[in-house]
Amino acid sequence: MVMMGAPGGGAFAGPSATQSSASAGLPFAGVPSEMEQGASRILANEPQHPEPVLSFRRIAERTTRLTLRSLFENRLGAALWGLVLLAIETVTALLGPVLTQQGIDNGVMQSNRDALYFAVFLFALVIIINALTSFWRQRWNGRLGEDIMYDVRVELFSHYQRMGLDWYTSEKSGVLLSRMTSDVEALTLLVNEGFVNLVIQGLTVSVVTVVLFSYNPVLALLLLGLVLPPLVVMTLWFRSVSERGYASVRDKIASVLADLSENLSGVRVIAALNRRRQNAELHRNVVGKYLDANLYTARAGAIYGPATEGIGIAAQAIVLLVGGWMVLDGSLQVGELAAFVLFVNTFFAPIQQMVQLYNTYQQGQSGLHKISQILSTQPSVPENPDALPLPAIEGRIRFDSVHFQYNEGPEILTNLNLEIQPGETFAFVGPTGAGKSTIAKLISRFYDPIRGKVLIDEHDLKAVTLDSLRTQLGVVPQEPFLFHGTIRDNVAFARPDATDEEVLVAIKHVGLEETVGGLAEGIHTLVHERGVSLSAGERQLIALARAFLSRPRVLVLDEATSSLDLHSEAKVERVLDGLLEGRTAILIAHRLATAMKADRIAVVDAGGIIELGSHQELMDLGGRYSEMFATWSSHSDDSLDQLSD
Ligand SMILES: Nc1ncnc2c1ncn2[C@@H]1O[C@H](COP(=O)(O)OP(=O)(O)O)[C@@H](O)[C@H]1O
Ligand SMILES: [Mg+2]
Repeated sequence: MVMMGAPGGGAFAGPSATQSSASAGLPFAGVPSEMEQGASRILANEPQHPEPVLSFRRIAERTTRLTLRSLFENRLGAALWGLVLLAIETVTALLGPVLTQQGIDNGVMQSNRDALYFAVFLFALVIIINALTSFWRQRWNGRLGEDIMYDVRVELFSHYQRMGLDWYTSEKSGVLLSRMTSDVEALTLLVNEGFVNLVIQGLTVSVVTVVLFSYNPVLALLLLGLVLPPLVVMTLWFRSVSERGYASVRDKIASVLADLSENLSGVRVIAALNRRRQNAELHRNVVGKYLDANLYTARAGAIYGPATEGIGIAAQAIVLLVGGWMVLDGSLQVGELAAFVLFVNTFFAPIQQMVQLYNTYQQGQSGLHKISQILSTQPSVPENPDALPLPAIEGRIRFDSVHFQYNEGPEILTNLNLEIQPGETFAFVGPTGAGKSTIAKLISRFYDPIRGKVLIDEHDLKAVTLDSLRTQLGVVPQEPFLFHGTIRDNVAFARPDATDEEVLVAIKHVGLEETVGGLAEGIHTLVHERGVSLSAGERQLIALARAFLSRPRVLVLDEATSSLDLHSEAKVERVLDGLLEGRTAILIAHRLATAMKADRIAVVDAGGIIELGSHQELMDLGGRYSEMFATWSSHSDDSLDQLSD
C-alpha cells in the first residue's frame, strides 16, 4: 500500500509514523517552526490511499489468445454435463417416429392391442423425460453461456480501462462500444444457442440416418440422393451471400454506433452551430446503409428458406410415392413408411438449421476475433513487470533529455531538460499547440517519452507502478468530466471513502457552498453524465474540489481556470493558494494572471522551453514573456472595461 500520510521525508516532518528521514539538507529545511507545525497538521490529515479493488494483473498476463476453445476451457466440467443433457434430450425427441412405427407395425397391423398400448405408454414416458431434460438443459446451458459471456464482458471492460490514452484517440468510441455491444451479442448468440443447436442438429442427422438405413437402405439412399445435392448447392450459395452480407451488416452497425456516440457527446456543439438538420440527415444516411445491408441478408434468407422448404416437401412426396410402391410390393412395412415420412422433416430441418447456424458461427467468430484483437493490443504505457510502488513522494519532478512525439507525428518536445522543486508552483505558458498539455501528460505518465526520462523524486516513472504514481498525482483537466451520480460522488471520486463533512469542506473551499446549498438535496443532488445541469465554471470548481479532497502530492492544473468567468476565476485564484500550499503544482495557464503567481514560469514553444524564471525575472528579460504579458494586460484591461460598462 502506498503511504500518503506524509512525504518520504523532508521539511514537513510531522507526528506521523510513516516519517522516515530528518529534515536536514532538504529544500525546505529552514522553514519557521510554526509554519512547519501548521504544515505537519495538514499532512496528518492527508488521506491514506487504499489499494484499488480491481487488479489488472491477471489480464495483463494473458498470453493465450481468446478463442472459442479457451472460453469453454475454464468451465469444462459444466460444458460436458451440458452435452450429456443435450444428448438425452435429442435422442428422446427422435424416439417419437420410431415408437409410431412400432405401434403401427407391431400393434395396429398385427391387431395386438398390448403392443399398441405399450408403444403409446413408452411414447408418453419418452415425452416426459424429454420435457424434463429439456428444462434442465436449457437452464444449465443458459447459465453456462451467461457465465462465459460475463467473463468476456468484464475482461473487455477492464482492458478498456487499462489502455493508454493514445488508444482512445485512435479508436473511435463508437467502435469500442460496438465491440462491447453487437460483437459481444453475436458471440453470446453463438455460445448460448449456436453450440447447443449444432450438437442437437448434428446428433439428430446422425441418429435419423442410422435409423432410416436400418429400416430400408434403398429408400434411405433415395432420400439422401433427393435431399443432399440441391441442399448443398443452395447452402453453398447462401453461405457466400450471407458471409458478404453479415460482414457489411457488422461494418454498418459499427458506423451507426460511432455516429451516434459522436453526436451524443457533441450535442451541445451541434445545437450551437445549428447543425441538427444536417446531422440528422447524415445519420439517416448511415442508418440507411445499415438498412440496406440488413435487407440484403434478409433477401438472401427469404430465398433460401422457402427454396429449401420446397425441396423438403418434394422429398416427402417422392418418399411417400416410392415407399408406397415398396409397401405394396411387401418390401417395406406400413409403420416403416410412416416413420420415413415423419423423419423426412426431422432429417431435413437440422440440415437447414445447421446452415443458419453457420451464420451464427460466422458472426460469433468475427465478433470473437474483433474482441480478441482488442484484448491482445498492449497498452502503450505498459507496467514494467518488476515495477515497484513509488514511495510517498516529496514532489521533485525532473525531465531528463526528453524527446516526445505522438505516434509517427512531428516531434513535439525536443531535448527537454527541467527540474521542478518539491513544493514549487511552476507555470507553463505559451501558444496553443506548443506542447504544454503534453508535458503535463508525460508527468502523469499518460504517455512515455520517445527518448529520455521523466523522474519524480529521482524515480523513473517507467520503473514504478502506475497505481502508486497516480494516487499521488492529481490532474484537473481543461474540460472536467462529471460522472452520473451525486455531487458528493463526483467530488469524492478519487476518495470514495471520504465523509460528507470532508466533501462539504472541499466544496466550501472552492466557494461552491452557496450553489450547492441552493440545491434541494445539497451534495446528494444528481448531476448528469456530462454535468449538463451545472455551468462550465461550476463543473470546473467541482473538479477542483475533487483535487482538494484527494490532496495529491503533485497537482497538475491544465488550463483549469480557462473556462471560468472573471468573477469565478478570482474566486478560484484564492482557492488555489490554499490548495497548492505544500505541494508541487504545475499550472498550465491560459491567463497570465494565474501564471504570474507561480514561483517560476516556463515559456514553451518550438519543442522546448525558451524562457525560464520568475515573473519579475522574465519581465526584466524583456523577451517573449514580457511581450505576451503586455498583450495580455492590454487585452484584459479592455475586457474589464467592457465588464464595467
Ligand atoms: N493525442 C494526440 N495525438 C497526436 N497529436 C497530438 C495529440 N495531442 C496533442 N497533439 C499535438 O501535439 C501538439 C501539442 O499539443 P498540446 O500539448 O496539447 O499543446 P498545448 O497544450 O500547448 O496547447 C499539438 O500540435 C497537437 O496537435
Ligand atoms: Mg493544452
